[in-house]
Amino acid sequence: NSSTDTLIRAELINFTRDPGDDNTPQPGSVEHYGDGLLWLKGQHIHAVGHFSELAPSLPEGCAVLDYRDKLIMPGFIDAHVHYVQLDIMASYGRQLLDWLNDYTFPEECRFTSHAHAETLSNVFLDEMLRAGTTTAQVFGSSHPGSVDAFFTACKKRRLRMMAGKVLMDRNAPNALLDEGSGITDTERLIEDWHGKDRLGYSVTPRFAPTSTMAQMDAAGALLRNDSTLWLQTHLAENNSELDWVTELFPGSRDYLAVYEEAGLVGPRSTFAHGIHIDNDMRKRLADRGANIAFCPSSNLFLGSGLFDRQAAYETGMAFTLASDIGAGTDLSGFATLKAAYQVGQLSGQPLTAWQGFYGLTMGNAKALSLDSHIGQLAPALEADFVVIDPNATPLLSRRISHCKTLGERLFALMILADDRAIYETWAAGQCQHQRDTT
Ligand code: GUN
Ligand code: ZN
Repeated sequence: NSSTDTLIRAELINFTRDPGDDNTPQPGSVEHYGDGLLWLKGQHIHAVGHFSELAPSLPEGCAVLDYRDKLIMPGFIDAHVHYVQLDIMASYGRQLLDWLNDYTFPEECRFTSHAHAETLSNVFLDEMLRAGTTTAQVFGSSHPGSVDAFFTACKKRRLRMMAGKVLMDRNAPNALLDEGSGITDTERLIEDWHGKDRLGYSVTPRFAPTSTMAQMDAAGALLRNDSTLWLQTHLAENNSELDWVTELFPGSRDYLAVYEEAGLVGPRSTFAHGIHIDNDMRKRLADRGANIAFCPSSNLFLGSGLFDRQAAYETGMAFTLASDIGAGTDLSGFATLKAAYQVGQLSGQPLTAWQGFYGLTMGNAKALSLDSHIGQLAPALEADFVVIDPNATPLLSRRISHCKTLGERLFALMILADDRAIYETWAAGQCQHQRDTT
């Protein structure tokens, strides 16, 4: 029954807008119900509020799930992740270009096998849900089948996901190059998957060094032809990468200009990393409404550098939060926030818990143009949320019991919590992961 009522009594936290940069959130940006009620109808949220205020209007004979010792937030969103790199996480000792050649490209060659793509899609989604992540923008390999397998697995679980087949037609092993077929395969995937159920297509040129200008131009034409498509790629992650781009595109003013010339920079474009960019590039990204995906655990792991969040605020450039698995070290949104805090500390701009949890939920939803569907606990939005157990471990429980304010509690979660604190993950109104049974 699509309009079944589900009633959940729990502590609820929701961000309605950016809480700002201070360790006190902007007035009205955070909704907090100590004893709240989340009321679902089918796959959507019907009502959110104080339990005592909603209690008189509840449907009769409908049991209330009692989660009063748990904390519910919107499902976490991961703005940039490679599902095809799950099996090369934790590969030792390389920076970007060597890491790509030594580990990543050989691994992505395995996705010629459809069976492998199916297996990894499901393993990856299990891990995402275990971590409380309900939506992600995902890179496949250059094999179109890798995206068919992924979307098929997402559709079965009714998840809201974006993904795309990597476009790369030069400077990589032959087995991964898609010259001649990359764009037509992308068109076929868009036709089959974009806008179907909760799925969206993200056009995916890997990065400027592995695409010819002709391929990037053709990708830009796809975007001009359909403004509802997303775009994901990488930008200015690593110094050797910058030198290579300068060498390959001597006529372009800077790295971002290469993407601008191809028509790849728009309001639905996500550029992963953006560490080594200047304010001029930040302002151009801001003017186009594009976002940089800040991938702190990946940036630390590959030794890429420190993302400048302050400069993003100052130039009005949107940024999203992301794991960037397999260079990232953790799928957990908590771990991404912890790493973002650490990167911030090294550059004198420690991330607050308000910014962190806003970013993982509403912030990412807004920057990815998904906020009319997900990102908040609010009526009419899709019922994707995470049930957090603040007593998941003895240490977490003990530390949280000493917190006096909500801000302190959220910060303790951001530093100490991991997948053990994800008690349940719900998507489309259904519980899709239960810690104690899987
Ligand atoms: N730049 C181009 N491809 C990749 C990739 O797969 N991972 C990361 N971190 N950076 C990239
Ligand atoms: Zn990446």
